[in-house]
Amino acid sequence: MGKMDKLDSPVLAGAPHIFWHGSQVTAEARRRQAGQQAATLWLTGLSGAGKSTLACALENRLVAAGRPAYVLDGDNLRHHLNSDLGFSPADRQENIRRSAEVARLMNDAGLFVICAFISPLRQDREMARRLIGADNFIEVHVSTSRKLCEARDPKGLYKKARAGLIPEFTGITAPYEAPLAPALSLDTGALSLNSACELLYQQLSRRFV
Ligand code: ADX
Repeated sequence: MGKMDKLDSPVLAGAPHIFWHGSQVTAEARRRQAGQQAATLWLTGLSGAGKSTLACALENRLVAAGRPAYVLDGDNLRHHLNSDLGFSPADRQENIRRSAEVARLMNDAGLFVICAFISPLRQDREMARRLIGADNFIEVHVSTSRKLCEARDPKGLYKKARAGLIPEFTGITAPYEAPLAPALSLDTGALSLNSACELLYQQLSRRFV
């Protein structure tokens, strides 16, 4: 049996009349053109932990170094692609599923993708790992303590959640499950933005070709 394209479709249970149209461009050709073995850095952590700040700083550093990179940010995607989703467990799962599928496509096109999502549940992050492919999925825990996130409260959301104005708020009235074996754990209460960004850059620089 020939080797399947990385993005070959599985059998579609509910859509039997859909067929996969393969690309003529090989994964190797894309890798050579992009100059990198693309991957997704998946930043998980509480609201206010510093995920988006880190993601944007890293994106900027990579692009300045000539490395194609793109941030997928939970808040931003919820303005457009995921604007129909809320914060119930099912909606969060769908948020992660769609976003992981987008990351997978962007990786396939050769970009480094930096995902910044609370993604509070282990099973949802494991789904993202499966969709993206374990070889290209690098889980990073932005482990800033709840206490510090709440003290920072950059959007005033913890205050509102404490006042009962936001249901199912992660860390207050909804769970956050920390990763058990992340590739990296970064506490932005203890690390400068520059040092944290550098550690992430090093993770990806191994994949430069
Ligand atoms: S996730 O849980 O589905 O991964 P996502 O990262 O997309 O969340 O969005 C989190 C952002 O949505 C937070 O940074 C915050 O600004 C906002 N937000 C609004 N309501 C909630 C809530 N109930 N729980 C957590 N974040 C919320």
